[in-house]
Amino acid sequence: MPMVGLGTWKIPREEAQNVVYEAIKVHGVRHIDCACDYGNEKEVGLGIKQAIDEGVVTREDLWITSKLWNTYHRYEHVLPAAQKSLSDLQLSHFDLYMIHFPISLKFVPFEERYPPEWIHDPKAEMPRLELDFGAPTHMTWKAMEELVDQGLSRFIGVCNFNVQHVMDLLSYARIKPYANQVELHPYLSQLPLVDFCQRQEIKVTAFSPFGSASYVVFGMDYGLNRGLLDDATVRGIADKYGRTNAQVLLRWSTQRGIAVIPKTSNLNHLAENMNVHDFTLSEEDVSMLFSYCLSANTSLLYRWTLSLVLTRIFASITLVSSASSWEKRFQSLIKCL
Ligand SMILES: NC(=O)c1ccc[n+]([C@@H]2O[C@H](COP(=O)([O-])OP(=O)(O)OC[C@H]3O[C@@H](n4cnc5c(N)ncnc54)[C@H](OP(=O)(O)O)[C@@H]3O)[C@@H](O)[C@H]2O)c1
Repeated sequence: MPMVGLGTWKIPREEAQNVVYEAIKVHGVRHIDCACDYGNEKEVGLGIKQAIDEGVVTREDLWITSKLWNTYHRYEHVLPAAQKSLSDLQLSHFDLYMIHFPISLKFVPFEERYPPEWIHDPKAEMPRLELDFGAPTHMTWKAMEELVDQGLSRFIGVCNFNVQHVMDLLSYARIKPYANQVELHPYLSQLPLVDFCQRQEIKVTAFSPFGSASYVVFGMDYGLNRGLLDDATVRGIADKYGRTNAQVLLRWSTQRGIAVIPKTSNLNHLAENMNVHDFTLSEEDVSMLFSYCLSANTSLLYRWTLSLVLTRIFASITLVSSASSWEKRFQSLIKCL
């Protein structure tokens, strides 16, 4: 798997063919990260096809990843879901097909909605996410393994799996996961998970390598309201090497054996992102970026502790005030705290 790929989440459909074609032709991209959920596999497929038809690359030169969406975790839905992605991408096989999340959602037929996304019925009076408890991961994985047997994917993998998920999977897997794709950047270094996966010879791919830049609009970026692309400390390091923040953030992972799949629709950014192999960050600078994780985690820990304390205080107020005697109230309070 090439260490730097192109992420395709949020590349608008109308731009995807050209971005992918130019990425392959002009910028030497050989690894493309796709998914049913990104809603643009047809257009990404057109870009790949154009590059192959014009003789820019052969299929064998490329590494194409796609992902099984959460609504297709039941054994019988895995093959049709993989075939649908292959057909949209106009490919005969994936290099890597991954379980997108360790979360099973209630099935939505293709003809009803594709991609189905998270909410089961967006038109319902109370639209909500509906979990499917009838799709255990071991059955999903069995169907994934059969994709390899049938030549539909060279390798299979997982995304967003923690150490316990991977340990459980390894207890029954006939075919080991090739890679685990997880959010990874200096705010979220995932050190224990990376260490565990690498010891098990499972590759790690970092998504959102710029510090959740894509999640800022959703307010899901650790509340910091910025990624690391404009960060002054990262810039200080970047200046030392005559590089950009983006390049430093990518190199921070790749030089530790972690693949990266930054998304961009901007071909200048793409050129930058592909040009990260010819410098090495010093150990001191690598460590400096790890310190972000500690401070981000510290602030998360602080918020988590605060919310736990507040919850307990509210619980104790409720219980204590509903207890009939002072003695009972005191016992309730001790139990709560
Ligand atoms: N498995 C999963 O659950 C999962 C979840 C999320 C993402 N992913 C994958 O990981 C990929 C990347 O993650 P992501 O999209 O969340 O975030 P990302 O790659 O960390 O950040 C993307 C943002 O960075 C900007 N950008 C890219 N290169 C830049 C550069 N050199 N200089 C300045 N800005 C730059 C992009 O804007 P421009 O387009 O304007 O350059 C975009 O706004 C996704 O596309 C997807 O393939 C997987």
